[in-house]
Amino acid sequence: METRTDLAARIREIAPFHVMEVQTAARSLEASGRTIVHMEIGEPDFPTPAPVVAAAQRALADGGIYYTSALGLPELRRAIATHYRDRFGVEVSPERVIVTAGSSAALLLVMALLVNRDDRFLLADPGYPCNRQFVRVLEGEPVGVPVGPTSNYQLTAELIEKNWTSMTRGALIASPSNPTGTMVAHDEMRAIAATVDRLAGHLIVDEIYLGLSYDHEPQSVLGLAREHADELFVVSSFSKYFNMTGWRLGWIVAPERHVRDLETLAQNLYISPPTLSQHAALACFEPATLAITEERRQAFRARRDFLVPALRELGFGIPTTPSGGFFIYADSSRFAADSQAFCRDVLEGAGVAITPGIDFGAYRPNEHVRFAYTIEMAKLESGVERLARYLRGR
Ligand SMILES: Cc1ncc(COP(=O)(O)O)c(C=O)c1O
Repeated sequence: METRTDLAARIREIAPFHVMEVQTAARSLEASGRTIVHMEIGEPDFPTPAPVVAAAQRALADGGIYYTSALGLPELRRAIATHYRDRFGVEVSPERVIVTAGSSAALLLVMALLVNRDDRFLLADPGYPCNRQFVRVLEGEPVGVPVGPTSNYQLTAELIEKNWTSMTRGALIASPSNPTGTMVAHDEMRAIAATVDRLAGHLIVDEIYLGLSYDHEPQSVLGLAREHADELFVVSSFSKYFNMTGWRLGWIVAPERHVRDLETLAQNLYISPPTLSQHAALACFEPATLAITEERRQAFRARRDFLVPALRELGFGIPTTPSGGFFIYADSSRFAADSQAFCRDVLEGAGVAITPGIDFGAYRPNEHVRFAYTIEMAKLESGVERLARYLRGR
């Protein structure tokens, strides 16, 4: 019988998602008749916009769902490039755009391009958990840099410089971030791009939540750091802003001289991004779709505006107001020293599912939990009421 010692060593270092365990426990409580308020789920509750579904239905009826180029359909690459001009006022050559199987594949391709064994890559801690694993499966060393409210829970140029060694290949920023919802200030983003360039490293910016910005007009790093734009790797996705998580479609804007190598990697790793999804995504940039996604962005903002003060009122610590995405990273140390046990208790006692900090890194995870506002307002209100009752009664 196969045992884990027969497997590659790297598999032992890949941690499971604790949020999945929360979800499994929540589902089993639901099966026993309880109602649960789900504030753990990291995908929008909104369905894929109707024009996108209609485009997919037309493509399916037309047949011809074959492999595409590993770089994606040329018309979709052009549409994404045009989106950068229309939305962010930056000219991006379609030649730089690579359509991928979700931004997950985008991150993996870029890491596979950049990381050799034992190379270091700087990541914010707390941060999106899969980033560490992408570096690890390539046998590189993910370096989690502790970040907190003083830097808006983001890496800064100074932190990058301080943590840089001769083995460091680059840094990854996600703005807005998962799990904190915080963004890198525009000046800081310029300083980061300049610093990484000076250190002869590579900067990856994950802009998957950028469309869901609530406090000012979103700006891509490609527009903010124009003098470094040709060297940047920007990763984005149709999953969140366009409500297409299950369609598995994202993209990279890569330095033009690296496109050929990324294409070779994509050809070998998964041949091409999903064809039906690419035809569907062509409808994302139509005015009718953008009107729907804009309305939903406003709904997300209203949810944030309700939930942040409500959680503060209950005693959770949220020192920096999140300005994008749909997550709140809250200090729960007032209620418990161990956030994992706290999440279990809250699920059992209040019927509210939330995610423990341990999913997002090694820096003070026991003191934090993540709330997702991916449910409608009435459910959020009910979640807050349940939490209030539960925390009072403890
Ligand atoms: C910050 C961040 N980047 C990337 C991803 C990957 O998303 P997808 O592969 O659906 O584009 C996620 C998913 O939750 C995320 O939160």
